[in-house]
Amino acid sequence: MTKKPPFIAGNWKMHMTISQAVALVLKVKDLIRGVGNVEIAIAPPFTALYHINYLLAESSIRLCGQDVFWEKNGAYTGAISPEMLKDVGCQYVIIGHSERRQYFNETDEIVNKKVLTSLKEGLKPILCVGESLEQREDGKTIQIVRRQVIEGLNNISPGQMQDVVIAYEPVWAIGTGRTAKPEQAEEVHNSIRELLYETFNLDSVKETRIIYGGSVKSNNIDSLMAQPNIDGALVGGASLSAEEFSRIVKFEKIQANGNRQ
Ligand code: PGA
Repeated sequence: MTKKPPFIAGNWKMHMTISQAVALVLKVKDLIRGVGNVEIAIAPPFTALYHINYLLAESSIRLCGQDVFWEKNGAYTGAISPEMLKDVGCQYVIIGHSERRQYFNETDEIVNKKVLTSLKEGLKPILCVGESLEQREDGKTIQIVRRQVIEGLNNISPGQMQDVVIAYEPVWAIGTGRTAKPEQAEEVHNSIRELLYETFNLDSVKETRIIYGGSVKSNNIDSLMAQPNIDGALVGGASLSAEEFSRIVKFEKIQANGNRQ
């Protein structure tokens, strides 16, 4: 089995007009030229996807949606379907981000419907899970995260797991400048990996990318990526700076030194 490369995705959230997005992506493309052995994705707002898809035509950067609806098509005003995202060049889609759960009342059931439809339509989901500060302080982190993973992946076939990326994003670390300590993140990632193994009983879940998100910056990416079960990062704020994002995707010094297995 060939080992999948680490996966680093930039989530631009509700930032960037089309002209700002174009300028940012051109800069990113330029700065990451020649970077290898890492899969890079960006998730611009829907309105910029069409333009950015053209700019990425000759680039290895993947395009990612920030959200998707669970029906194929129909009378769902304001919604975007998996087919529409694929049509505009997306290969990935972020599902169940804590901001969607918080501001748009997304439940694990809704998240699961989105994951299932995306997989069926050939779009790779990045399933986001993570505990709140209160849940961490109550010692419920592992329990909460395991429940979100189990429910988010309900009814997924073992074969479909190869297209799933899981993002562990502690809510208290998102946009706060407070990153989980590498060992704290590793403990959760390891538990998710064990859970995937128990659920799907497949060796290939060793290859499932479990990425970390929450105040990832160029000055903490190396220590996060040095952990055995951290396979990449979902980067919010820092992905809005081409220089900072490109420094993050170049974390690979560590891989080049052979310190990761
Ligand atoms: P942040 O966001 O890097 O700004 O903390 C991460 C995310 O929400 O995916």
